[in-house]
Amino acid sequence: MAQQVRGVIAPGKNEPVRVETIVIPDPGPGEAVVKIQACGVCHTDLHYKQGAINDEFPFLLGHEAAGVVESVGEGVTDVEPGDFVVLNWRAVCGQCRACQRGRPWYCFDTHNAKQRMTLLDGTELSPALGIGAFAEKTLVASGQCTKVDPEVAPAVAGLLGCGVMAGIGAAINTGQVGRGDSVAVIGCGGVGDAAVAGARLAGAAKIIAVDIDDRKLETAKKMGATHTVNSRTQDPVEAIRSLTGGNGADVVIEAVGRPETYKQAFYARDLAGTVVLVGVPTPEMQLELPLLDVFGRGGSLKSSWYGDCLPSRDFPMLIDLHQQGRIDLGAFVTETIGLGDIEQAFARMHDGDVLRSVVVF
Ligand code: APR
Ligand code: ZN
Ligand code: ZN
Repeated sequence: MAQQVRGVIAPGKNEPVRVETIVIPDPGPGEAVVKIQACGVCHTDLHYKQGAINDEFPFLLGHEAAGVVESVGEGVTDVEPGDFVVLNWRAVCGQCRACQRGRPWYCFDTHNAKQRMTLLDGTELSPALGIGAFAEKTLVASGQCTKVDPEVAPAVAGLLGCGVMAGIGAAINTGQVGRGDSVAVIGCGGVGDAAVAGARLAGAAKIIAVDIDDRKLETAKKMGATHTVNSRTQDPVEAIRSLTGGNGADVVIEAVGRPETYKQAFYARDLAGTVVLVGVPTPEMQLELPLLDVFGRGGSLKSSWYGDCLPSRDFPMLIDLHQQGRIDLGAFVTETIGLGDIEQAFARMHDGDVLRSVVVF
């Protein structure tokens, strides 16, 4: 039997979000219904509301979520009712060239639930990032569910579904930060701070946080930054070089997504170092670099997509490390809120005071 639950809808471009009754179908083949326990508020949810991602309104917002599997459809063997799971954006196919080469984050044939959730009048909803978890329950593909230790707080577990995983993964998966490395992180919002925490987890000796906002640098210190650079008052490339014996950092992680910070990252790395690009630029952005520098500086330039994570490998591992006190994922939860508080959470995110507001059910 289809069921009715409350969920948060973005009805149209820049219109305020609102709580509505939504209809969840029974899970079909390969699908699962998950009872949501917590879901973080992310910039991407705001971008959906603003129509900046696409115009397939109405959206069912929310995508950084954890909960308990309530029911599964035919043929589902990877999870079962009662499992505590973290959701991810897309189930990968396991068959395509990317999957076969062990890089499923580039899978060509990912999928979400085939059936649609609707409003009471039958209007189909577009779930944000294929999830839609600002709702008491949601319908996903079973491959979007990763089972993790149920002892962890749901508000903490859900964060791995997006920005926090992107940042930690940029450091440990894409950047392959190693013990004793020097790491610089340019841009210390949620993603950059998670990269700082990832670098600390990986054993980096020096972690240099760069931002234009002193408040962000203070938070980065709590996450593990050993040095801070305000790039409004100091040239970040010079500062990073002088903090690393004149060489530049072994790994530089860019978590802003702008041409000037891409360029800073490029020049702040050690000659044989790695630049990790996790900040997402907009289509019109361009960067000009002398080819001799591209050639002569060696090293590598890598973009990081969802932290190059493998959910089944990385989600349980990070939750185990959190439970052991080796990384503090709880530090990313600034406040917990209710389903009706999402507009206010968007406003606070804009003011820059909050790492994550998390809706708990
Ligand atoms: N130099 C240094 N830091 C900057 C600059 C700059 N020129 N401009 C902005 N920043 C800082 C901001 O002060 C803020 O602390 O970058 C940080 C960006 O953080 P958020 O806006 O909170 O964004 P976040 O969620 O961390 O995402 C960062 O990563 O995954 C991508 O799409 C995401 O492109 C975005 C980026
Ligand atoms: Zn997100
Ligand atoms: Zn695939």
